[in-house]
Amino acid sequence: MITLPETLVTIAYLAAGILFIQSLGGLSKQESARRGNLFGMLGMALAVGVTAFGPHAGNYVVLIGALVIGGAIGAAMAARVEMTDMPQLVAMLHSFVGLAAVLVGFGGTLDLTNTLAGVEATIHAVETFIGVFVGAVTFTGSIVAFGKLQGLIGSKPLLLPARHLLNLAALVGCLFLGFQFVSAEHGAALQPLIVATVIASLLGIHLVMAIGGADMPVVVSMLNSYSGWAAAAAGFMLENDLLIITGALVGSSGAILSYIMCHAMNRSFLSVILGGFGADEGKAPAAGAQPAGEVKSITAEETAELLRDAKNVVVVPGYGMAVAQAQHPMYEVTKILRDKGANVRFAIHPVAGRLPGHMNVLLAEAKVPYDIVLEMEEINHDFPTTDVVIVIGANDIVNPGALDDPSSPIYGMPILEVWKAKSCIVMKRGMASGYAGVDNPLFYKDNTQMLFGDAKKMIDAVLAELKK
Ligand code: TAP
Repeated sequence: MITLPETLVTIAYLAAGILFIQSLGGLSKQESARRGNLFGMLGMALAVGVTAFGPHAGNYVVLIGALVIGGAIGAAMAARVEMTDMPQLVAMLHSFVGLAAVLVGFGGTLDLTNTLAGVEATIHAVETFIGVFVGAVTFTGSIVAFGKLQGLIGSKPLLLPARHLLNLAALVGCLFLGFQFVSAEHGAALQPLIVATVIASLLGIHLVMAIGGADMPVVVSMLNSYSGWAAAAAGFMLENDLLIITGALVGSSGAILSYIMCHAMNRSFLSVILGGFGADEGKAPAAGAQPAGEVKSITAEETAELLRDAKNVVVVPGYGMAVAQAQHPMYEVTKILRDKGANVRFAIHPVAGRLPGHMNVLLAEAKVPYDIVLEMEEINHDFPTTDVVIVIGANDIVNPGALDDPSSPIYGMPILEVWKAKSCIVMKRGMASGYAGVDNPLFYKDNTQMLFGDAKKMIDAVLAELKK
């Protein structure tokens, strides 16, 4: 096997780091997202290839075997996963990063050839302990997040008595064990590390179990950030510069994304990590919060009629559009209305669907032009001058209770103010609540009509009417 010289590996790592930064830059806009993905793939291929043939690699049978088996499983999973199941896949992948950091930490501790001494040994021990701690929290936290998103674990938060004290005790305990680990002789270091791993694993489970359904998107991006820091710590343990760079990029971009999402939901980051939001999920709304008014339904024919006469139309897609895969016929409807001279635009809420950018991906897949896809802040003030709003499978993101009902669990979350339009048509199958589990007063408003049924079937029916 060829072994690449150290300098070439360093240059290749630098190039891969630049490609990763370019990738993040590209992913920030829809127009450049494909290019961003390509940069990321190139960077990763370069990183893995150079590491596999670098001076520190050995045992090629195991290495190639792991690459082939791991690559095949990853490719098969990615090819089969539904867009709606993407958050689960991401959570699962984060758990692997966490587990890898724990295993690297234990591998290093068990390595008897380690000759570090003095300050170097202390620094290495600190890196190892932090890597194992963050890795264990990420590993178990991500598995619980996966279980919640997959519906294997209830999304209701588990609120143990004195849970903040329990978390604090776990942290203090791990700090104490960290001191023991760092100051222990080589052979005696394993015991505090094992105990700390167990405590950190329980802490990861407890932290995520305490978080309610509506905060799961932030949790997934926060675990993304943790997995980055765990990877960076593994990079320090393995003295691999690229792993440090990549880990720091993932860690900081995940933290920034978590902040942006908290901002979009008007939640403080601390209150999300400390959990509890959505505790009342499944409960009947408080007496004062019962929506007043009656639910009026509309047919596909009547919807088509309303759309024919409309000059300004706004489409609000939500999770139900993803489930029904209604984006393609919706764009067909859009084209017909635009050809007739109507102004049709799509309004995207930052947490619509189940993952950041979920709706943008679906609309891009249906080839909806980017210039008619607008963010919440860009379009929210246009609803009073809109003739018809079509809400496709969205619920929480158009819930007026978030603005005017302090007893609502989503109170304070900015939403798309669709009821301000002349007419609002909501497409969903029944009166079920959305992800946050709260009733929606929008469905009872005077200018709201419900088009009940599967979103794709209903849009197909509207399309057929419009084509007549
Ligand atoms: P939701 O509030 O979850 O509402 C989706 C609605 O779609 C449901 O009420 C459901 O009603 C309807 N639906 C489901 N299948 C349908 C189908 N085949 N045809 C028509 N309608 C269908 O969705 P949203 O408004 O997009 O809000 C997103 C929520 O998810 C927020 O609470 C957010 O915090 C949370 N969340 C977001 C993310 C990210 S990052 N975007 C990740 C995880 C969670 P019926 O059952 O009555 O049809």
